[in-house]
Amino acid sequence: MCGIVGYVGAENSTRAVDVVLEGLSRLEYRGYDSAGVAVTTGTISQVKRAGKLQNLLDELASNPLPNSATSIGHTRWTTHGGPTDENAHPHLSFDGSISLVHNGIIENHAELARELAEQGIERVTQTDTEVVAHHLALSYKKEGDLTKALLATVAELEGSFTIVAIAADAPGTVVAARRNSPLVVGLGDGENFVGSDVAAFVGQTKRAIEMGQDELVTITPDSVTIQTFEGEPVERDEFEINWNAEAAVKGGFNTFMEKEIHDQPSAVRDTLLGRMSESGSLMLDELRIDESILRRIDKIIVVACGTAAYAGHVAKYAIEHWCRIPVEVELAHEFRYRDPVVSEKTLVVAITQSGETMDTLMAVRHARDQGAKVLAIVNTHGSTIARESDAVLYTHAGPEVAVASTKAFVAQITATYLLGLYLAQLRGNKYSDEVITYLDELMAMPDKITAVISQEDEIKALVASMKDVKTVLFLGRHVGYPVALEGALKLKELAYIHAEGFAAGELKHGPIALVEEDQPVFFIVPTPRRPVLHAKVLSNLQEVKARGARVLCIAEEGDTAVAEYADTVIRIPETPTLLHPLVSVVPLQIFACALATEKGLDVDQPRNLAKSVTVE
Ligand code: G6P
Repeated sequence: MCGIVGYVGAENSTRAVDVVLEGLSRLEYRGYDSAGVAVTTGTISQVKRAGKLQNLLDELASNPLPNSATSIGHTRWTTHGGPTDENAHPHLSFDGSISLVHNGIIENHAELARELAEQGIERVTQTDTEVVAHHLALSYKKEGDLTKALLATVAELEGSFTIVAIAADAPGTVVAARRNSPLVVGLGDGENFVGSDVAAFVGQTKRAIEMGQDELVTITPDSVTIQTFEGEPVERDEFEINWNAEAAVKGGFNTFMEKEIHDQPSAVRDTLLGRMSESGSLMLDELRIDESILRRIDKIIVVACGTAAYAGHVAKYAIEHWCRIPVEVELAHEFRYRDPVVSEKTLVVAITQSGETMDTLMAVRHARDQGAKVLAIVNTHGSTIARESDAVLYTHAGPEVAVASTKAFVAQITATYLLGLYLAQLRGNKYSDEVITYLDELMAMPDKITAVISQEDEIKALVASMKDVKTVLFLGRHVGYPVALEGALKLKELAYIHAEGFAAGELKHGPIALVEEDQPVFFIVPTPRRPVLHAKVLSNLQEVKARGARVLCIAEEGDTAVAEYADTVIRIPETPTLLHPLVSVVPLQIFACALATEKGLDVDQPRNLAKSVTVE
């Protein structure tokens, strides 16, 4: 999410703005809600514009910035504050001494804003970032040194951030710091760079240094100095960038889909960030419904399409269990035409990555016409569904470029868990300490997803023998059922192979007739810590194995019972039952992507599909 560039060249260099704009053009895939650039020449000058980078370029063409050797730039994917000119980065401090850009979420921005207000410094934007600029300016006044000032400022910040800053009276220096958001340094000859990833400067240099977690870097034309947030010096070897510009945009992956699969740990982490108020309660992003109405709702209907609808299926299990409210899941295009029973006590939850899917939008309008309240779980700020809903919970997955959804799916599931816990807390079904325990378990999920992704070579190795299969079946129970549906959908979308997902219990009622010798069947095996559920799936597994199927299991580490019947076991870490989909879907995404690649298909843009379907 968000692309960041910083550049510093020799004193007489005039190319800072051009270098930064070139970097932004390569980083635009990270966000395109707004873009901005700042330079320092003794004073700071900056230009920022809502919308795509082209809007900024048009503005700069008629009102150019002064020549400078020091510049920072940003292309934004909105999280806090709408996609407007004011909310665009860079952000200037109250006294004009500091300009900075930020990627991530400052969780304690409200508290920092309050401290600033006590000193008479008021916010002029709705962003979480602006307060950092003011704090850095105050520290700079005190410390007289930009590096020391940034060290003091990051000590105040909670959340995830990459920050890149310049000072009005310090041309020739750019400082940057990172925690949980990406940052790399580019090494030039008499010039240096920083960027969200190497795409930011791959057109300028092939030499780079990785920045570690909780590290800060100061670049001048001739020096790069890295230290930890504790002020300990860091020595790090440089590496050579062997990607071309196109590969760099995809983070070195061959396809956006592979990159987005790898983005999933951060998609989940970022969706969880900044959700607790100071009083310890969960918060939604935009709430235009009275909480008393939410306390009274007696039914939830999830409306969505495609992968988002499967996220809704997972939500049903979690929300019913935590909140004791009946949850229906309805394909958005079916909802509207079946005369659904909706009242002012119904909460309709619309799940959509784009926020523009016409079927979902029509369902939202229909629900509101019937008097229901609509809460949207959306990835795209300012989208139509976000604007037309009564409440919004944003997923912070960042832009998803590949048509087939991956990181948006895990972010949607995460958001539905947050919604379930929010309602459980609001309606008194769960105490705050119980909510905090669930949140802690959720916070452990990004590392578990990483552990599954680390087995990708073994998963990819499966596809060589599957290239010519005609059908693949996916079976799961409980929350494993929607995962089976999503596994089948991924294979259809990407590899054009007929695939079906079934509830494992339904097998004996028909689908078992499809099983013949060597038929590949994936099982999403529940945790053995739910013995009844686990035993039932084990029986289903034996039923297909006995009929000659090739059985592939996604099962927890330590589940020894499956090994006896499975031809292949892909391991996932021990995970609470309701959170299983966040890890169990990952091998299925990797499998579908690898099989499509093996078949020589276009993974990012499969035939006949569109990312955002804006027709009914
Ligand atoms: C299209 C895409 C799917 C997506 C669905 C819903 O069909 O190909 O990947 O799941 O739309 O999109 P939304 O933006 O509403 O989540």
